[in-house]
Amino acid sequence: MGMLSIINARVITMNASAHGGNTATQNGARHGAAMSDIGVIENGHVCMRDGVITSVAPGRPASLIGEVIDAGGRVCMPALIDCHTHLCFAGDRWSEWEQLRAGESYESILAAGGGIMSTVRATRQATPEVLAHELGDRLRALAQLGVGSVEVKSGYGLDWQSEIKMLGAIDAAAKNTPQLVMATCLGGHAIPADNPAWPEQFAANLADLARQFPGVAVDAFCERSALSVQQCRDIFTQAKKFNMPRRLHTDQFNSIGGVAMAIECGATTVDHLDAADENSITALAKSKTIAVLLPCSVYALGGSYARGRSMIDQGAAVAVASNSNPGSAPTIDMRFAMHLAVRHCGLSTNEALTAATWNAACALGIETKVASLHVGKRADAIVLEERDERALTHGFAGPPPRHVVLAGNLISYRH
Ligand code: NIG
Repeated sequence: MGMLSIINARVITMNASAHGGNTATQNGARHGAAMSDIGVIENGHVCMRDGVITSVAPGRPASLIGEVIDAGGRVCMPALIDCHTHLCFAGDRWSEWEQLRAGESYESILAAGGGIMSTVRATRQATPEVLAHELGDRLRALAQLGVGSVEVKSGYGLDWQSEIKMLGAIDAAAKNTPQLVMATCLGGHAIPADNPAWPEQFAANLADLARQFPGVAVDAFCERSALSVQQCRDIFTQAKKFNMPRRLHTDQFNSIGGVAMAIECGATTVDHLDAADENSITALAKSKTIAVLLPCSVYALGGSYARGRSMIDQGAAVAVASNSNPGSAPTIDMRFAMHLAVRHCGLSTNEALTAATWNAACALGIETKVASLHVGKRADAIVLEERDERALTHGFAGPPPRHVVLAGNLISYRH
């Protein structure tokens, strides 16, 4: 590890001025107008030692010891945080891609036992070692694109043994990757045709899950084609008893009451929201629940994008994630997700930066560790190719960051 300094940079600290520029102890997501407050130092530096940030300030550091990166006026900002992924899976979905192109819908493919269920079949057959190995490769690819913290869901097991196998593989991969990895148990992803009682069995197993994987979040998919509001409510009621964070995929294709139920059950996040109606947006804006936008799936499947502008104008806290998965979002590119959030969901660049760093960290409960350049925090930073952050959301499909530093280690460097 040792010492590393980034000098001569346009530093985006994400230390909101509304909090006196101090985010080391601040927690809680930024809502509404507060999402625009990104804390810019026009010409500054960031120093790190042994994996921790030691100085963030204007001008040059008093002394330069160790490795030095001259950013040449480029943007230096916290590493990105991808707070919603399905990166642990086996198999592929290329024939589904052809079905979609031929005009079949994502939901009808799922109803016929394909889609998510085809990945379930492949994942049930894979060994934990293969799952962990392939997940590790994907996580390292994300790191090259500047993602310093990442959430990984299970949800392609949908029986107890296979869900536990997936969570074990996520833990194993996390030990060999440079990122902070947070696991979520998406046991409520779908109802397998061979076991209609699975959602109830999953809910009944949550005490055991909390014991085996302390801190793991619980997730479900509340849609006509997946679990009902009541099934998700039963899962959340159990999860709450064991103090497990609750997240809900909802309003991707239709609005059946998932948002209201999730807020009532104290969910940390509701994710997708492309079909969220006005009442749901208003309720979200009055709540602490974070709206996680996943625009890459809308890009891949078609349909209407979530109304991010209206959410923020009404005072909601919004995060953006890649939703990386083999079916509805075959991408690992957070930059593309941020571009779509600006281009189609109506976010400004500053709001997209908050959505992909601070609010994403809040979705995972890790905002006191990462997501702002602040003395004492984990040294996760990226230097962009660009000298203005607006270029980050204007451009898409690259370029990757020029430099990526995770836990104080330079893991990617381009001349
Ligand atoms: O968040 N919508 C449900 N789950 C995933 C898709 C998973 C898949 O298609 O394999 C999502 O989009």
